[in-house]
Amino acid sequence: MTTGYQIGLAVHVLAAMTLVVGLALRARPLLGAGGGLALLSGLFLASQGWGFQPWTALGLVGLVALGAGGARLPPVPAAQGALLGLAAGVVWLMATKPGWTGALLALVISSLLGLAAGRYWGVRRERAVV
Ligand code: HEM
Repeated sequence: MTTGYQIGLAVHVLAAMTLVVGLALRARPLLGAGGGLALLSGLFLASQGWGFQPWTALGLVGLVALGAGGARLPPVPAAQGALLGLAAGVVWLMATKPGWTGALLALVISSLLGLAAGRYWGVRRERAVV
Protein backbone atom coordinates (compact mmCIF):
# COMPACT_ATOMS: atom_id res chain seq x y z
CA MET A 1 0.00 0.00 0.00
CA THR A 2 1.21 3.51 -0.76
CA THR A 3 2.25 5.27 2.45
CA GLY A 4 2.26 8.96 3.34
CA TYR A 5 6.07 8.83 3.27
CA GLN A 6 6.06 7.53 -0.33
CA ILE A 7 3.66 10.28 -1.40
CA GLY A 8 5.88 12.85 0.35
CA LEU A 9 8.92 11.42 -1.44
CA ALA A 10 7.17 11.58 -4.83
CA VAL A 11 6.10 15.19 -4.17
CA HIS A 12 9.66 16.00 -3.06
CA VAL A 13 11.29 14.57 -6.20
CA LEU A 14 8.70 16.28 -8.44
CA ALA A 15 9.38 19.56 -6.61
CA ALA A 16 13.13 19.09 -7.12
CA MET A 17 12.52 18.53 -10.84
CA THR A 18 10.38 21.68 -11.01
CA LEU A 19 13.14 23.65 -9.28
CA VAL A 20 15.73 22.45 -11.81
CA VAL A 21 13.46 23.24 -14.77
CA GLY A 22 12.86 26.70 -13.26
CA LEU A 23 16.61 27.24 -12.98
CA ALA A 24 17.28 25.99 -16.50
CA LEU A 25 14.49 28.06 -18.12
CA ARG A 26 15.07 31.00 -15.78
CA ALA A 27 11.36 30.89 -14.93
CA ARG A 28 10.85 32.51 -11.54
CA PRO A 29 7.39 31.00 -10.74
CA LEU A 30 8.66 27.45 -11.35
CA LEU A 31 11.77 28.12 -9.31
CA GLY A 32 9.74 29.52 -6.39
CA ALA A 33 7.10 26.78 -6.46
CA GLY A 34 9.68 23.99 -6.81
CA GLY A 35 11.94 25.41 -4.09
CA GLY A 36 9.10 26.00 -1.63
CA LEU A 37 7.62 22.54 -2.16
CA ALA A 38 11.05 20.86 -2.00
CA LEU A 39 11.62 22.59 1.34
CA LEU A 40 8.25 21.63 2.86
CA SER A 41 8.30 18.04 1.59
CA GLY A 42 11.99 17.71 2.55
CA LEU A 43 11.24 18.84 6.11
CA PHE A 44 8.34 16.39 6.25
CA LEU A 45 10.53 13.50 5.07
CA ALA A 46 13.32 14.47 7.47
CA SER A 47 10.81 14.49 10.35
CA GLN A 48 9.89 10.86 9.60
CA GLY A 49 12.93 9.40 11.39
CA TRP A 50 15.90 10.85 9.45
CA GLY A 51 16.27 13.97 11.59
CA PHE A 52 19.42 16.09 11.52
CA GLN A 53 22.02 14.44 9.30
CA PRO A 54 24.94 15.88 7.33
CA TRP A 55 23.03 15.36 4.06
CA THR A 56 19.72 16.82 5.30
CA ALA A 57 21.51 19.81 6.88
CA LEU A 58 23.68 20.52 3.83
CA GLY A 59 20.70 19.83 1.56
CA LEU A 60 18.93 22.64 3.38
CA VAL A 61 21.97 24.91 3.01
CA GLY A 62 22.08 24.02 -0.72
CA LEU A 63 18.40 24.81 -1.11
CA VAL A 64 18.79 28.20 0.58
CA ALA A 65 21.79 28.96 -1.66
CA LEU A 66 19.77 27.94 -4.72
CA GLY A 67 16.94 30.23 -3.62
CA ALA A 68 19.29 33.16 -3.01
CA GLY A 69 21.25 32.64 -6.23
CA GLY A 70 18.27 31.69 -8.33
CA ALA A 71 16.15 34.64 -7.20
CA ARG A 72 18.28 36.88 -9.37
CA LEU A 73 18.05 34.42 -12.28
CA PRO A 74 21.67 34.96 -13.32
CA PRO A 75 21.94 35.66 -17.05
CA VAL A 76 25.60 34.57 -17.01
CA PRO A 77 25.92 30.94 -18.24
CA ALA A 78 28.69 30.16 -15.74
CA ALA A 79 26.53 31.24 -12.77
CA GLN A 80 23.51 29.39 -14.12
CA GLY A 81 25.69 26.30 -14.62
CA ALA A 82 27.04 26.55 -11.06
CA LEU A 83 23.48 26.66 -9.65
CA LEU A 84 22.39 23.69 -11.77
CA GLY A 85 25.52 21.84 -10.62
CA LEU A 86 24.68 22.65 -7.01
CA ALA A 87 21.16 21.25 -7.52
CA ALA A 88 22.68 18.07 -8.97
CA GLY A 89 24.98 17.92 -5.94
CA VAL A 90 21.98 18.04 -3.60
CA VAL A 91 20.38 15.16 -5.54
CA TRP A 92 23.64 13.25 -5.00
CA LEU A 93 23.46 13.95 -1.26
CA MET A 94 19.85 12.80 -1.02
CA ALA A 95 20.54 9.56 -2.89
CA THR A 96 23.89 8.58 -1.28
CA LYS A 97 23.52 10.17 2.19
CA PRO A 98 27.24 10.79 2.88
CA GLY A 99 28.87 12.17 6.05
CA TRP A 100 30.02 15.81 6.43
CA THR A 101 33.19 15.52 4.34
CA GLY A 102 31.56 13.59 1.51
CA ALA A 103 28.54 15.87 1.49
CA LEU A 104 30.64 19.06 1.40
CA LEU A 105 32.90 17.64 -1.29
CA ALA A 106 29.90 16.60 -3.40
CA LEU A 107 28.42 20.11 -3.29
CA VAL A 108 31.71 21.84 -4.09
CA ILE A 109 32.67 19.46 -6.90
CA SER A 110 29.22 19.46 -8.52
CA SER A 111 29.02 23.28 -8.38
CA LEU A 112 32.48 23.60 -9.97
CA LEU A 113 31.59 21.07 -12.68
CA GLY A 114 28.38 23.01 -13.38
CA LEU A 115 30.31 26.27 -13.51
CA ALA A 116 32.82 24.82 -15.97
CA ALA A 117 30.03 23.36 -18.14
CA GLY A 118 28.16 26.69 -18.08
CA ARG A 119 31.30 28.57 -19.12
CA TYR A 120 32.01 26.10 -21.90
CA TRP A 121 28.51 26.27 -23.35
CA GLY A 122 28.37 30.04 -22.90
CA VAL A 123 31.53 30.48 -24.94
CA ARG A 124 30.31 28.06 -27.61
CA ARG A 125 26.97 29.89 -27.85
CA GLU A 126 28.71 33.25 -28.20
CA ARG A 127 30.93 31.86 -30.96
CA ALA A 128 27.85 30.41 -32.73
CA VAL A 129 26.09 33.81 -32.65
CA VAL A 130 29.08 35.78 -34.00
C1 HEM B 1 17.52 21.45 -3.96
C2 HEM B 1 16.92 20.83 -2.98
C3 HEM B 1 16.65 19.35 -2.93
C4 HEM B 1 16.72 18.40 -3.93
C5 HEM B 1 17.14 18.62 -5.38
C6 HEM B 1 16.35 17.13 -3.34
C7 HEM B 1 16.28 15.94 -4.02
C8 HEM B 1 15.91 14.73 -3.47
C9 HEM B 1 15.79 13.48 -4.18
C10 HEM B 1 16.06 13.29 -5.68
C11 HEM B 1 15.43 12.52 -3.28
C12 HEM B 1 15.18 11.04 -3.56
C13 HEM B 1 16.38 10.24 -3.10
C14 HEM B 1 16.10 8.75 -2.98
O1 HEM B 1 14.93 8.32 -2.89
O2 HEM B 1 17.08 7.97 -2.98
C15 HEM B 1 15.30 13.16 -2.00
C16 HEM B 1 14.96 12.54 -0.82
C17 HEM B 1 14.93 13.12 0.42
N1 HEM B 1 15.18 14.45 0.72
FE1 HEM B 1 15.63 15.88 -0.62
N2 HEM B 1 16.08 17.32 -2.00
C18 HEM B 1 16.25 18.66 -1.71
C19 HEM B 1 16.11 19.29 -0.49
C20 HEM B 1 15.88 18.64 0.70
C21 HEM B 1 15.84 19.27 2.02
C22 HEM B 1 16.05 20.76 2.24
C23 HEM B 1 15.60 18.27 2.93
C24 HEM B 1 15.47 18.32 4.42
C25 HEM B 1 15.60 19.35 5.17
C26 HEM B 1 15.49 17.02 2.21
C27 HEM B 1 15.24 15.79 2.78
C28 HEM B 1 15.08 14.62 2.09
C29 HEM B 1 14.76 13.34 2.70
C30 HEM B 1 14.59 13.09 4.20
C31 HEM B 1 14.66 12.41 1.67
C32 HEM B 1 14.26 10.93 1.78
C33 HEM B 1 15.44 10.01 1.64
C34 HEM B 1 15.03 8.57 1.46
O3 HEM B 1 13.86 8.22 1.69
O4 HEM B 1 15.90 7.76 1.09
N3 HEM B 1 15.66 17.29 0.86
N4 HEM B 1 15.60 14.50 -2.13
